[in-house]
Amino acid sequence: MVKIYLVIFFVILVAAEERSCPNFKTRNNWEAKDPTTVEYQTFPVPIVIIHHTASPNCSTFRECATRVKNIQHYHQVTKKYPDISYNFLVGGDGNVYEAVGWHKVGTHTVGYNNRSIAIAFIGNFNDELPVPEALQAAKDLIQCGVELGEIKKAYKLFGARQLVKTQSPGLTLNAEIQEWDNWNPRP
Ligand SMILES: *[C@@H]1O[C@H](CO)[C@@H](O)[C@H](O)[C@H]1NC(C)=O
Ligand SMILES: *[C@@H]1O[C@H](CO)[C@@H](O)[C@H](O)[C@H]1NC(C)=O
Repeated sequence: MVKIYLVIFFVILVAAEERSCPNFKTRNNWEAKDPTTVEYQTFPVPIVIIHHTASPNCSTFRECATRVKNIQHYHQVTKKYPDISYNFLVGGDGNVYEAVGWHKVGTHTVGYNNRSIAIAFIGNFNDELPVPEALQAAKDLIQCGVELGEIKKAYKLFGARQLVKTQSPGLTLNAEIQEWDNWNPRP
């Protein structure tokens, strides 16, 4: 009996260890405003899209949270979107910031919003790469999404500029993600 319990205990321990979900900052943590509307999507989604915000970068929680709030303000007030456009953002502090979050439709990539998760790196990555902690956080987030059943195991990864007319996620970052698992040359 004791043996069986021990085995079960270790199986649970190993399962817990394998979760790759990175540090999360929730909407409450960064003091998000409420969305005007929420639209849900069917999950797991088949597509992951990498963006950059093309706005100033950040390296501490305080700084990154302010950036995220400013982006939400710009999207809700100026662009009249229901919420901040992305599903998640990643800061130079290595944290993932919950934007619209899992299984919700964002407003990031016309034609792809209702079947994808968009992850935006805070900053402009035309001429430089995000810090290694941020790159790792994004990879962990994708893996975490697969484990949670939010992203298909055989998902396709794209840079936004492959799908719509934009520079996002920046030329340097766009080259980097071509080395990542599941990157696809064409939609
Ligand atoms: C932010 O951008 C500046 C200027 O390009 C760069 O020197 C710095 O390393 C960047 N910080 C992070 C955390 O990416
Ligand atoms: C996404 O939206 C398009 C256009 O409205 C629609 O044709 C498509 O069926 C939708 N896809 C999903 C997975 O809901």
